[in-house]
Amino acid sequence: MEKFDVVVIGAGPGGYVAAIRCAQLGLRTAVVERWINKQGEAALGGTCLNVGCIPSKALLESSEQFHRVTHKLAGHGIHIEGAKLDLVTMLKRKDAVVRSLTGGVETLFLKHKITWFKGTARMLDAHQVEVTPLDGTKKQEFLEASHIILATGSVSAAYPNIPFDDKYIVDSTGALDFPEVPKQLVVIGAGVIGLELGSAWQRLGSDVVILNRGSTFLSKVDQQIAREAQRILKGQGLDIRLGAKPTAVKASKKGLQLTYTDAEGEKQLRADRILIAIGRKPQTEGLNLEAAGVAVDEQGFISVDGQCRTAVPHIYAVGDVVRGPMLAHKASEEGIAVAERIVGQAGHVNYNTIPWVIYTWPEIAWVGKTTEELQKEGRAFKAGVFPFMANGRAHAMHELGGMVKVIADAQSDKILGVHMIGPHVSELIAEVVVAMEFDASSEDLARIVHAHPTLSEAIHEAALAADGRVIHI
Ligand code: FAD
Ligand code: NAI
Repeated sequence: MEKFDVVVIGAGPGGYVAAIRCAQLGLRTAVVERWINKQGEAALGGTCLNVGCIPSKALLESSEQFHRVTHKLAGHGIHIEGAKLDLVTMLKRKDAVVRSLTGGVETLFLKHKITWFKGTARMLDAHQVEVTPLDGTKKQEFLEASHIILATGSVSAAYPNIPFDDKYIVDSTGALDFPEVPKQLVVIGAGVIGLELGSAWQRLGSDVVILNRGSTFLSKVDQQIAREAQRILKGQGLDIRLGAKPTAVKASKKGLQLTYTDAEGEKQLRADRILIAIGRKPQTEGLNLEAAGVAVDEQGFISVDGQCRTAVPHIYAVGDVVRGPMLAHKASEEGIAVAERIVGQAGHVNYNTIPWVIYTWPEIAWVGKTTEELQKEGRAFKAGVFPFMANGRAHAMHELGGMVKVIADAQSDKILGVHMIGPHVSELIAEVVVAMEFDASSEDLARIVHAHPTLSEAIHEAALAADGRVIHI
């Protein structure tokens, strides 16, 4: 039995980052990972690098470039005749980006002398892990660990009555690889995946209908931003239908026939492909957590305290498999913090300043509390809003939709939340995350010199607006 200071199970952004930090801190570290990529090779990087953040952003980037050429450049006085889509090359480029980054993680493992066991892990007790190798001809291996980090991530939730067939009715993984642009794509779930992948295929030529069970669009997002997002995305051609409950799908010669109900009754939709994106659920199947004394909660998440500790002191869990937002950067920060806690350092994650980004175009980004959350808490606040319509750089880019909203405490002026929809707000959000980490006030943002002409001036102006002294509107 091989002995390690730390065994990490799962090499997504939670597990692989935790492993690198453990190794940096001098711990003898092993990782068990079972992922097999499209090419049939064992791969590191988990959901995020293989079928999540990275390939979806590669496809979003390519589809947006295509859309610019076919729809936007003429407005800049650039006419490109005969621009056409080469989907095979577009998807190959996406796959190359994925392989380059997952290969990069492998190189980092070599650099940090992290041992990768290619197989499926199962707990035997609180210290021992059994690995069933991917290579079926090899024998099982047994590892003993002083500490264990569970980072087994999440999988797509299934829809009752409409099972995946992985070809026509798919989850996000299938929707990253449609062999041709679906003429009619129906997306079930107007969440992050539905909007991102729905946008990507719509830009490439699909008619996209997005059905959402709830009647509030982007219910977790500040509703002023959500309304602007709905208006803009609708204007782009995304057919978003709220309060719509799919009930059944039938396959016929003409394609798929989806039935759903809304306030008006039962309706039918034809579809070439259906993407189901109604959330993700924690992945713990087959881990045999009971043998280690580790519990899961009623939703299946591994139960941990605020420091990612399970009830067993030397076993931790991080990332999508525990409570909190299912985001790659949240998983990684938890991984780093846990590695530092293992060696007695004060690892720390500030859950109040985790940024969210939805990579539609324009992008949606936010950090901290929404207007609705603060209203519910009964907290007195002030808000300043500044539209990109009044920003010089946005005019130069001809990207006029969207706004920045800064919310601050009514008395102390401490920033409580910042919400944006607009061009490149995925990058702009970092400024306000830093500000919130340093407990800044909206006046601090208002006093900082922002370069002109930049999109970041919209943050400056929204902060000024919170104090009733906006300049450009
Ligand atoms: P995962 O990345 O899911 O990794 C878990 C790993 O554990 C997997 O590789 C799995 O094979 C392995 N594993 C599980 N069980 C075992 C076992 N028993 N033995 C061995 N190995 C095992 N987040 C963002 O922040 N930004 C984005 O832009 C973004 N885009 C996304 C787009 C899509 C389409 C999807 C699906 C997700 C996206 N996410 C995004 C979410 C992000 O991918 C997850 O939050 C992140 O991957 C979670 O990391 P993790 O390490 O907890 O788990
Ligand atoms: P989601 O939670 O973002 O959205 C799910 C949507 O489906 C919601 O709008 C919900 O109302 C709807 N829904 C739920 N059940 C339904 C039902 N039975 N019928 C119809 N609609 C239903 O989940 P999604 O989009 O699947 O993404 C999963 C997670 O992956 C995200 O929450 C996020 O954590 C992560 N992710 C992050 C990205 C990013 O950071 N840019 C990109 C993609 C995914």
